[in-house]
Amino acid sequence: MSELTHVTLNAAGKAVDLPVLHPTLGQPCIEIARLPKETGCFTYDPGFGATASCKSAITYIDGDAGVLLYRGYPIEQLAEHSSFLEVAYLLMNGELPTREQFARFEHEVTHHSMMHEAFRTFLYGFRHDAHPMAMLTGMLGSLASFYHNDLNIEDPEQRRLAAIRLIAKVPTIAAACHRYSIGWPIRYPRNNLEYTTRFLHMMKEVPSEPLELNPVAAKAMDLLFILHADHEQNASTSTVRLVGSTGANPYVSVAAGVAALWGPAHGGANEAVLKMLEEIGRPENVGSAVARAKDKESGFRLMGFGHRVYKNFDPRAKIIREMCHKVLAELGVDDPLLEVAMRLEEAALKDEYFIQRKLYPNVDFYSGIIYKALGIPTEMFTVMFAIARTAGWVSHWLEQQEDPENRIGRPRQIYTGAGRRDFVPMPQR
Ligand code: CMC
Repeated sequence: MSELTHVTLNAAGKAVDLPVLHPTLGQPCIEIARLPKETGCFTYDPGFGATASCKSAITYIDGDAGVLLYRGYPIEQLAEHSSFLEVAYLLMNGELPTREQFARFEHEVTHHSMMHEAFRTFLYGFRHDAHPMAMLTGMLGSLASFYHNDLNIEDPEQRRLAAIRLIAKVPTIAAACHRYSIGWPIRYPRNNLEYTTRFLHMMKEVPSEPLELNPVAAKAMDLLFILHADHEQNASTSTVRLVGSTGANPYVSVAAGVAALWGPAHGGANEAVLKMLEEIGRPENVGSAVARAKDKESGFRLMGFGHRVYKNFDPRAKIIREMCHKVLAELGVDDPLLEVAMRLEEAALKDEYFIQRKLYPNVDFYSGIIYKALGIPTEMFTVMFAIARTAGWVSHWLEQQEDPENRIGRPRQIYTGAGRRDFVPMPQR
């Protein structure tokens, strides 16, 4: 079959030729930018299920086949052979680093990991029981106040440095938020440790004794970071791009991404999954949970199930599921919630409701059980996601700033309000 080059749309007796764009991988796209001018009509696509918002060379997903590629590399290969920091370099720069390039990148990320001392005062302004995602949103937004004045986003080197600062500082800030909420003194980053181990030390080390960190924990966390690092134009990345499209600085753009990530339909699902599994409690209760999830009146969904793009197994969920068994065994953790999760997955995958709607476990279904085994408190789960996704957010922000087609994001609407009417003074209403 010859390649589709254009489609013709007939609107109000007028034929409009619309070009068809072909990505390197994936489905063709009809370019509709000229449509309003030529037909007087806009398009309507709530939730953007049929709309590409930009061109991007960072991540590719084939939702029907369950494929995820970062810069062309399959997620399974990166999970097996790479590290989170190397993946961050790949996402940002487009190619895997040489030894020298990686050493320079690691050095830069390591030496930008401190936060300004004034940040403590800012942190101490939060209520002790504030959710860490609320703190992270505020803290990242406030980074702009430390770097805004001398940041020229027209300068590629300054953009790169801002991206490095974000990747470097998010773990420090995240750990500080956690420690503040439990009343522990803030721990400074230790530069002799690599990225993920350094973060775990900042989370867990107490001043009174040295931390004996199981290397299995750091390896597992690093792998989870790789799997969460990017996922093309998801809600939080699209938010970063929307804010970035206005010329706002990268710190507030990423802070907006953190806010979008927090929702239970997105990154907040990992926290919601664990709460759901705890509520289900025992394998015997799985049947009634599945029944409740199918009942639209209940308002209950199986958290960690379903995905806008994947209509097959989420490849990340497959890796995490396997890893879950391994990590729990290696750490000597016996968590009954794993049995509940496995039974729930099994029951849902056999159920007609889930089969028909192509609802499979997603990345968040098993990740919470691993975080729990690593001693990460439930309210920090989405923060873990945010640390990893920062690599993706900054890569998209960098790509967008270089994109000659970048315009301010400005969707249209279908107005459904009142027609024009005259003001009525209050006594006459
Ligand atoms: N449990 C029960 N029913 C579901 C679920 C679920 N988890 N997910 C979707 N459905 C049903 C939904 O009710 C609808 O049924 P019907 O056709 O009868 O109206 C159908 O499946 C299609 O769902 P949708 O809401 O139109 O799909 P969407 O693409 O708008 O939403 C989703 C995708 C991920 C928000 C949704 O599947 C969901 O709410 N899942 C649970 C939350 C979750 O795990 N989120 C993490 C997503 S992966 C990590 C990330 O990207 O952050």
